[in-house]
Amino acid sequence: MKNIFKYEVQEILKPTNLMEISDEQINDHWKLYEGYVSQVNKLNYDLIELTKKGQADSLLYADRRRRYGFEYNGMVLHELYFGNLTSKLYDLETSKLKNQIIQTWSSYEDWLKDFINTGKTRGIGWAILYADPRTGQLINVFVQDHELGHISEFIPILVMDVWEHAYMVDHKAGDRSDYIEAFIKNINWEECEKRYLQAKEGKILKRF
Ligand SMILES: [Fe+2]
Repeated sequence: MKNIFKYEVQEILKPTNLMEISDEQINDHWKLYEGYVSQVNKLNYDLIELTKKGQADSLLYADRRRRYGFEYNGMVLHELYFGNLTSKLYDLETSKLKNQIIQTWSSYEDWLKDFINTGKTRGIGWAILYADPRTGQLINVFVQDHELGHISEFIPILVMDVWEHAYMVDHKAGDRSDYIEAFIKNINWEECEKRYLQAKEGKILKRF
C-alpha cells in the first residue's frame, strides 16, 4: 500500500443543544470517536510498517489484522450516529422513508417499538435501521460491539449507539431506556431520508 488514506475527525457532524442529551455527554462521547479515527490511521500505518520489516507472519501483525472490523466500524458508526442527531425538529410526515416504514410495519409506532426493543438488547452495541438496497425493505438490527451482526450490502439509515458511554454522563448504567427516549427526540429525519433515498437509488452513502 503506497497511498493509504488518512482519516480525519469530521467536526461538522458534532451535534449541540440536543434535547435531554447534554453537550457534556456529547463532548465526552466525541473524544471516544476521535480515538477511533486515530486508531484506524494507526492500524493502517502499523500494517505497512510490519510488512516492510518482514513481520507479516508475526502475532503483532495478526492482532492488527483482526482489529479492522472493530476500529473501522467504531469510526464509521460514530459518524453516522452523530450525523443523525440534531437540535432541529423535522417533520417526518411526508417522507418516503416514513411511507416505507409504514408499509413494512403497518405503523410508525410499531416500527418505533421494534427499534426501541432492538436498542434494549442486552450487551454493548448498536441499534441500526437498515435498508436492503435490492428490495427497499427496512429492518432493525442489533450490532454487538461495533462489528458483529452487520449485514453485507445493507445500508444504515438510522444508527443509535447503545454502549453505556453514550449516556453515562447523563444517566446511570441501568437507565438505557431513558437515553433511548432522549435519542428519539433528536433524530435528524432529514438526514435519514437522504440516506434512504441514496440507498434506493443504489448510491454509496455519503456520511460527511
Ligand atoms: Fe459510542
